Amino acid sequence: MDGNGRWAKKRLMPRALGHKRGVDTVRTIARAAREMGLEALTLYAFSSENWKRPADEISDLMSLLRAFIRTELDELVRNGTRLKIIGEWQALAPDIVDMIGDALARTAHNRQTTLTIALNYGSQQEIARAAARAAAKGAITVESIEAELDTADLPPLDLIIRTSGEVRLSNFLLWQAAYAEMWFTDVLWPDFTPEHLHDALGQFATRERRFGGR
Ligand code: FPP
Repeated sequence: MDGNGRWAKKRLMPRALGHKRGVDTVRTIARAAREMGLEALTLYAFSSENWKRPADEISDLMSLLRAFIRTELDELVRNGTRLKIIGEWQALAPDIVDMIGDALARTAHNRQTTLTIALNYGSQQEIARAAARAAAKGAITVESIEAELDTADLPPLDLIIRTSGEVRLSNFLLWQAAYAEMWFTDVLWPDFTPEHLHDALGQFATRERRFGGR
């Protein structure tokens, strides 16, 4: 969800306002994805590397996360969305860990769609953790690692969308991206609309996926 900072800077606003508008987009896109019938949507909200940002920005992001869970949880429960968190979220502030635990429990039985939020997430760290768990149980194989990834109960990754003109994966779902399609746009995350999502899905539908075959 890149480009919140630049969106704010262009308007001579504080970065925090860019992130706040970013959360508005999260709300709109999560709703649109569900209405479009997507089985799963995963949003990269806070990376393991984002701790390098200034303390006040980290604190703004955590406050936005708290507010998001507080204001959206009832709707997620009602509309059939299962909330899932990937990453080392248990290391976040205790009150956030409690809120997340409650949100996971309240949406656990929902089956309409899964909204996954990556928090304190790094894909290399995830793969290392999964490999260690697989090794502790027996052989290290593609399947045994896959079964231990944070995403083990999600469908295979089909499409990665990255906003704001960045053309890299930045430690997001590296393993899962092996055969994912990618769609890059210059649109900044706060300006990303359901129409952009629709365009990305339209493009995706035209891609011929061979998974290494022919
Ligand atoms: C990247 O933009 C964005 C982030 C690091 C944070 C994304 C987080 C949110 C939208 C809010 C919290 C999420 C939820 C689900 C409530 P950037 O700051 O790197 O922008 P820039 O590249 O323009 O500087």
